[in-house]
Amino acid sequence: MADVSPLLVTGLAKAVPGRSLFARLDLALAPGEVVAIMGESGVGKSTLLNLIAGLDTADAGSIVIAGEDLARLDDDARTRLRRRAIGFVFQAFHILPHLDLAHNVALPLALLGADGLGEAEAMLARVGLGGRGKALPAVLSGGELQRVAIARALVHRPALILADEPTGNLDPETADRILALLIGAAHDSGAAAIIVTHSDRAAAACDRVLRLGAGGLQPHG
Ligand SMILES: Nc1ncnc2c1ncn2[C@@H]1O[C@H](COP(=O)(O)OP(=O)(O)O)[C@@H](O)[C@H]1O
Ligand SMILES: [Mg+2]
Repeated sequence: MADVSPLLVTGLAKAVPGRSLFARLDLALAPGEVVAIMGESGVGKSTLLNLIAGLDTADAGSIVIAGEDLARLDDDARTRLRRRAIGFVFQAFHILPHLDLAHNVALPLALLGADGLGEAEAMLARVGLGGRGKALPAVLSGGELQRVAIARALVHRPALILADEPTGNLDPETADRILALLIGAAHDSGAAAIIVTHSDRAAAACDRVLRLGAGGLQPHG
């Protein structure tokens, strides 16, 4: 299993009312490969991540995650695959305010039926928040909240991380530190990742940089 591609996208097409976002998009990630995707606002980066996550439906093409073709799964199976194989980091953090940090980080494991608080504490330590598991999110800065979100994205050892402008809400210095942390944590855990970012510096730290445009994904450079 270790050498199954975490993501294989072939001939993907998606149109929104009035225009085509992409018509024949291909993308193959190697296990553990961290790819940056750049591109103008509105070009379809978030739509692409939603398609990969099985949260939106393509007009044509196929998406295979860790060997499983999304189109061949029913809704329940697609949800189970998403919970098992994917970790998400969002621009707006999406940390639950009434849960302490450990319970926030343990959520993906809870959804898989495990307790996970021990793993959550270990992941919090990995992102520089060791011993803070009982704190509530309200006392954290934006950069710290995104560290919690990174710990949550990795805690269930997914094959694939999807991060959609994960530092868009942070000041530039914090953003660079958080992106370096995300890239390092993905590399350490062996997770492949797609990181949508506008930061050339962050992109340069990834294994590969692609640009999404009208012609699909092209090497950036
Ligand atoms: N459900 C939808 N219905 C209509 N238009 C949509 C929908 N989702 C996205 N779009 C449009 O698709 C384009 C791409 O959006 P998005 O994927 O969010 O771009 P990006 O993340 O690159 O900024 C935008 O023009 C947006 O308005
Ligand atoms: Mg977007």
